[in-house]
Amino acid sequence: MSKHSAETQAMIDACKRHTLYSWSARDKVDPLPIARAEGLYLYGPDGQRWIDWNSQLMSVNIGHSHPKVVRAMKEAADGLIYAFPGSATDARARLSQRVAALLPADMNTLFFTLGGAEANENAIKIVRQYSGRPKILSRYRSYHGATNATMQLTGDPRRWANEPGMPGVVRVMDPTPYDYSFGKTDAEIVKNNLTYLEEIIQYEGPQTIAAMFIETVTGTNGILPPPEGYLKGLRALLDKYGILLVCDEVMAGFGRTGKTFAFEHGDIVPDVVTMAKGLTSSYIPLGAVAMRDEIGNYFNDHVFWGGLTYNAHNFACNVALAVLDVMEDEDLVGNAARMSVVMKDEMQKLKDRHPSVQTYRNIGLFGIVDLQQDRAGTPMAPYNGTHPAMGALNSFLRENGVFTFMHWGSFMCNPPLCIGEAEIRDTFAIISKGLAATTDKVVTG
Ligand SMILES: Cc1ncc(COP(=O)(O)O)c(C=O)c1O
Repeated sequence: MSKHSAETQAMIDACKRHTLYSWSARDKVDPLPIARAEGLYLYGPDGQRWIDWNSQLMSVNIGHSHPKVVRAMKEAADGLIYAFPGSATDARARLSQRVAALLPADMNTLFFTLGGAEANENAIKIVRQYSGRPKILSRYRSYHGATNATMQLTGDPRRWANEPGMPGVVRVMDPTPYDYSFGKTDAEIVKNNLTYLEEIIQYEGPQTIAAMFIETVTGTNGILPPPEGYLKGLRALLDKYGILLVCDEVMAGFGRTGKTFAFEHGDIVPDVVTMAKGLTSSYIPLGAVAMRDEIGNYFNDHVFWGGLTYNAHNFACNVALAVLDVMEDEDLVGNAARMSVVMKDEMQKLKDRHPSVQTYRNIGLFGIVDLQQDRAGTPMAPYNGTHPAMGALNSFLRENGVFTFMHWGSFMCNPPLCIGEAEIRDTFAIISKGLAATTDKVVTG
């Protein structure tokens, strides 16, 4: 028997019959019916309520349907909605200045796209055209988008079925060690990784490499903040060979980590920054590539060989301006930094209480808990795998009002940045019950 009303089930069936779902076989999809969303919460058509513990795709940073943004969207619809990319508009002028002001001082040129993949796609074009070099470095623990080129930058298994793709991408290991017994300190881990990376650069020919793309804090592939000293060391190594550093801040940007951009934690200035999600809090699609003046100025007298019908879409630029107002007025970046401490405290309590918790990580409100099958630390699910207990945990959380993402043997903790202490603690209380009822039961040893 369906767990939904007949009307809701018909709606779900129509969605499944007539649309494909990302990264899924249709028969296996069990879409969450959502009728409306407000602040931290999603509401189902049959009266259910879930806290959005993943900000949808780690993207609704200001929370859902913020009244000030909704009002601004209605006003924007009364004004200029769309103008062709060759036009000059007030919203394009104001948004580009506003975003440039959030970035390092010598980063004043932006190219607006529709989302994150297109931002990275255009960043590839920009670094290749500027440097005249063909190859790109990227890392295995990464996701950079689902277009043909960005799938090749992507290290994770979503790439496999899309191969072969654009040539010229050289993927390398991450600073997160593959063998945890190797290094005891961040300094050792960084030294090991950068020594290896320099060797790869030598083998590939430094003069053939335009740029290295990194997620400044790796998102879907495990919420992995870089070890202390990595970003500075990487910056210096790439500088030595004239290789540009592209920080993909599509997920980590706009406050998620407790700073406006995650590279600020490492005290570095990238050459190119890509962004999307938080730029409009997903109220409407918009992304951007930002570049340092030296690169931006290159395109003063060289054609930029790229374009989009929806480049600097006027309505989207207006929405982004309203979202950035809310972020600033409500100090959401500061709130993410303050709530980081509460999240860490609750994650530690989970680890103390539950044998299935192996470890946890969070930076700002960007968090994950890794689960284990035994006290020796065997992951609850292998790389690219799953375990029935993960499905059971997901069902428990959904039935008890928590929406989040399971990722292999881990679960995500990425609420909107407007969350308060009480809501964080209440949600962890539900999660704790869920672990006791599901994953703890499978732990052996
Ligand atoms: C780090 C990162 N880069 C790029 C993308 C692709 O963005 P989009 O889905 O908007 O194309 C994502 C999406 O999750 C992402 O997390």
